Amino acid sequence: MKALLLAGGLGTRLRPLTEELPKPLTPVCNRPWLEHLMVHLRDQGIREFVLAVKTHADKIQSYFQDGQALGVHIEYAYEQSLLGTAGAIKNAEHLLDGRFLVFNADIVHLVNVAPLLEFHERHGGLVTIGLTEVNDPSHYGVVELTKQGEILRFVEKPKREEAPSNHINAGIYVMETSVLDWIPKNRETSIERETFPALIDHCVGVYGMPVDGYWLDMGTVDRYMQLHDDIFAKRAPVHMSYRMTREGVWMGKEARVHPGATIIPPVVIGEGAVVQSGCTVGPYVSLGDHAVVRAGASVSRSIVWPGATVGSEELVSDAVVGRTFVTQACRPAPSAAVREQETANEREPVMQR
Ligand code: GDD
Ligand code: MG
Repeated sequence: MKALLLAGGLGTRLRPLTEELPKPLTPVCNRPWLEHLMVHLRDQGIREFVLAVKTHADKIQSYFQDGQALGVHIEYAYEQSLLGTAGAIKNAEHLLDGRFLVFNADIVHLVNVAPLLEFHERHGGLVTIGLTEVNDPSHYGVVELTKQGEILRFVEKPKREEAPSNHINAGIYVMETSVLDWIPKNRETSIERETFPALIDHCVGVYGMPVDGYWLDMGTVDRYMQLHDDIFAKRAPVHMSYRMTREGVWMGKEARVHPGATIIPPVVIGEGAVVQSGCTVGPYVSLGDHAVVRAGASVSRSIVWPGATVGSEELVSDAVVGRTFVTQACRPAPSAAVREQETANEREPVMQR
């Protein structure tokens, strides 16, 4: 079975990050999220991928190429202009056959696809949508569904008070190829605003099934930072690429930490990253591969991208640092429990030697 990954959007809400890297290459603990996702799906037996791309398609293709390095096979469906979420699927028609899976590429989850496929087979609809529950559904596609799981209504980004439920589209679909007959060719079309409502109106069988486990759309700067907090707090089941050298400290190969630097866990230090003398790094910091923290700088609760530099004596907190930008997100002050843990960590700094 093929999986189509919708990876062509502009990533507007992740600016300025997406001016440096497209959303599908945005690093999550030093690996593009899309890579984590493909590896997760590969481990469930899915090896054929179609990437629907437009924005920075060249960067995405030069990173993933034909997928061989990940043990998968990747084909690309390029759009001349953005075709929207349905148009992108239609544009990949020549690469799809039989039943297929679709994933929004910016959703962080480790969903098990077997129960979803089993549900789809049992209900016999044209589409099964993976659902999750959130407190405020107004930023998502919201569904009204029957006890049997049939979707009666799909409303994209309704006003909060008009949302029919708290069950939202998790950005994961099982589809039959006949869905493609419902999408017009060569024009921008939204699966959420046009195709799903049309399929529901014609009662062709659109079902929804709740998916278990952690789920987050990382498409805004605040949520991207939230994701890293969740990974460090072990709420998000994202696999760390590096070995843990001490409790809460993951170090890549050839990372160099000066003996006079202080590392406060939890911290990820990327391959070839450099932490110079007198620095404090942590807690809740992910340092990208080959990132440099210059002498006397202090970095906490932040994500430093691959190849970025924190200048000498700089204080960086609650920020994402790229090679070309530093952004500050409005995050809630840490909870009492987190503060207590941080204070405990500060009492016992880990010195890297
Ligand atoms: N190829 C291609 N072409 N991909 C696109 C296009 C396009 O024109 N437009 C968007 N995408 C990709 C994005 O890159 C992203 O991976 C995915 O489609 C979803 O687009 P977003 O822009 O992130 O949508 P959203 O987050 O506002 O809403 C969607 O996701 C929610 C879950 O987080 C909708 O599917 C909602 O219904 C859903 O609840
Ligand atoms: Mg999104």
